Amino acid sequence: MAGPGGASVTADLSDLDAYVERLTLAEKVALTSGSSFWETTAVPRTGLPSVVLTDGPHGVRLQRAQADHLGISESVPATCFPPAVTLGSTFDPELLERVGRALGEEARAEGVGVLLGPGINIKRSPLCGRNFEYLSEDPLLSGVLGTALVRGLQSQGVGASLKHFAANNQESDRLRVSADIDPRPLREIYLRGFQRVVEDSQPWTVMCSYNRVNGTYASEDPWLLTTVLRDTWGFDGLVVSDWGAVEDRVAGVRAGLDLEMPGGDGHTDAQVLAAVESGRLDEGVLDVAVRRVLQLVARVSAGSQDGSTYDREAHHALAREAAARGVVLLKNEGGALPLAEGDSVAVLGEFARTPRYQGAGSSLINPTRLDSPLAEIERIAGTGRVAFAPAFTLAGTDPAADARLSAEAVAVAAAAPVVVLFLGLPDRDESEGFDREHLSLPANQLALLDAVRAVNQRVVVVISNGGVVELPFTDDVPAIVEGWLGGQAGGGAIADVLFGRINPSGRLAETIPMRLEETPAYLDFPGEFGHVRYGEGLFVGHRWYDARSAQVRFPFGHGLSFTTFAYTGLRVTAGPLGLEARVAVTNTGTRSGREVVQLYVSRPDSVVQRPPRELKGFATVDLAPGETREVTIAVRRCDLAYWDVRVDDWVVEDGPYAVAIGASSRDLRVAAFVDVVGDQVCLPLTMSSTVAELLAHPVTAQVIAGALGEIDSAIMADDAGLVKLIGSMPIGRWIAFPDNRLDREQVEDLLRQANATLIGPQRDVDRRGRGWPLSRAAHH
Ligand code: BGC
Repeated sequence: MAGPGGASVTADLSDLDAYVERLTLAEKVALTSGSSFWETTAVPRTGLPSVVLTDGPHGVRLQRAQADHLGISESVPATCFPPAVTLGSTFDPELLERVGRALGEEARAEGVGVLLGPGINIKRSPLCGRNFEYLSEDPLLSGVLGTALVRGLQSQGVGASLKHFAANNQESDRLRVSADIDPRPLREIYLRGFQRVVEDSQPWTVMCSYNRVNGTYASEDPWLLTTVLRDTWGFDGLVVSDWGAVEDRVAGVRAGLDLEMPGGDGHTDAQVLAAVESGRLDEGVLDVAVRRVLQLVARVSAGSQDGSTYDREAHHALAREAAARGVVLLKNEGGALPLAEGDSVAVLGEFARTPRYQGAGSSLINPTRLDSPLAEIERIAGTGRVAFAPAFTLAGTDPAADARLSAEAVAVAAAAPVVVLFLGLPDRDESEGFDREHLSLPANQLALLDAVRAVNQRVVVVISNGGVVELPFTDDVPAIVEGWLGGQAGGGAIADVLFGRINPSGRLAETIPMRLEETPAYLDFPGEFGHVRYGEGLFVGHRWYDARSAQVRFPFGHGLSFTTFAYTGLRVTAGPLGLEARVAVTNTGTRSGREVVQLYVSRPDSVVQRPPRELKGFATVDLAPGETREVTIAVRRCDLAYWDVRVDDWVVEDGPYAVAIGASSRDLRVAAFVDVVGDQVCLPLTMSSTVAELLAHPVTAQVIAGALGEIDSAIMADDAGLVKLIGSMPIGRWIAFPDNRLDREQVEDLLRQANATLIGPQRDVDRRGRGWPLSRAAHH
């Protein structure tokens, strides 16, 4: 391993405990914070080198001179792969693993030991300014794809930094805001992807986020950094702070924060030193963090290779492949696409020649080269067949200039058989550091579209954007291509899709809503006075629209192809490890194509609130025209579970699950029911258990029913009516009323008998959730 300073390892790190013994307290403290913006502290006395950490996530942003974490100063040239928004739309873990490998090769060649990514925060609101750096609104998709990236990267001996842990779903007030989240959405939505990546790929580092989670800074939360991350998920790597995320370093070390970045002015080192010296911080706790830093040094040095290089051309080609796989064909009517090679075409819009290909902030890459869509379209269409007009200004602040450009573009459009119009969000609209305020494309661009449509109806709109935008013109144009931010080779990828050299297979990893006002977090985002309440709960992304049967512009999972696919013969089986679904998929069109087969699961009449359907598996399949293949999708048992707040654990509910498979969350083609044997939740009955809960328990039911039978009610003539009336009363309160047939001792004895049956196999919660009763004692 060699950092920019070129230090080489001479330290013997085979016995970390022994190594820690050799260090002074001051050296140990210094090791747990950076020595500079991008480097850990070296200990020259013992031959311990530093490790270079660098952004990330979609390229290597190594700064050799001026350093910053906001994308301001120069970095060395590196391949700018498509940002996560585009990678997410590929639904293709195999491809992402290859991208991860390429990132690892570049990092290793530059002497970088840890690449700061992937970022897998959930896209809670489309307004989040950093959504372009995240994969999806869905935790399963984020988890599977994040795992692939980590695996690829780490296969090259370079560490990943899974970020931003946790619940960093907005940029507004990001260094202070508390994400206030109920236990179920926290576990089922916001932590679930992290859990999967940690368990499946063991990233060498996890980066804790700036924000607070339910009131506690992520950088000093023992529950998050130790109980959940290490004790429950088995994370064995190092927790690094986001750059500047440390509020109280001593509390951080105690909570499980191992490395503060970047290196500061020594202020927090002095605090840790003083805390150990005064006995407020156990030196053994510091030693644990030191060991983890040493382990990272050892891992990085094992993976480093002096003189390693990478193939720029091959990486550019991979970037193009990944960008093309992430392009989502949203609409295509009347065979508007693909264009025929050799056709004349008008290409309009400044983005065609000045592509928007990545987002601003710490992930900003200095690309090794940059392909524009215009040049790539010209290359495929042939010379003289492309008429270009910039059509609008990117700034949109000079009406006279826009009017002139618009008139010129309209003239070009009027003379062309087909128009490809590039619209998009300008750089200034989305970045790390702030959130968006609306979901609209700039007014000058929308006006231009209207003017072009007035002279030519064959308009193919291509959009460049990192976060979703409203598409009010959807019904007015025959085709829309969502190009996202394609990285340095995105121009070629767009051209490949427009001309059908690549048959599009990208799918929406996030819903495109009709209007901002209808999005799940609209009323709560971005919060106020330091708190943001996640009031939509579990209903994030498509879960929200589906639960409300609300119209969306384009649903989660949507994406068209130039061919068509049919689904037949679904078979689903359940086993101890989960579900297995098999379905035959046929290419019913005339072109080869790739289908993203999506599997959604619902549990009708669940005991708990659940979204109507959730993505629980997916697979891609390449099919020649007329070809049929059987696709197998496995669903892990843990992915069927909900977080049960009564027992603070995952619980798989018994009973029938509906498995639906199709081409999007709203284009489900085949479905089947399967019975699953659930987990047993055995909660003790207490005096706080309700009459209904006792009625549902096999040991207590008879006695309680007998007591109810004694009640003579003119209005509630039948038992069901009585249960409705009295069922919600805690038994202890009910028996306290005068003239009650049950006495306290009898009930206490009954409860004892019932609770004695808790040992051994038990039935679980019944459909209404009252079978095994809730009890206060069981609440955590
Ligand atoms: C970002 C991180 C990034 C770090 C270092 C922070 O501002 O939130 O994602 O890795 O800076 O640049």
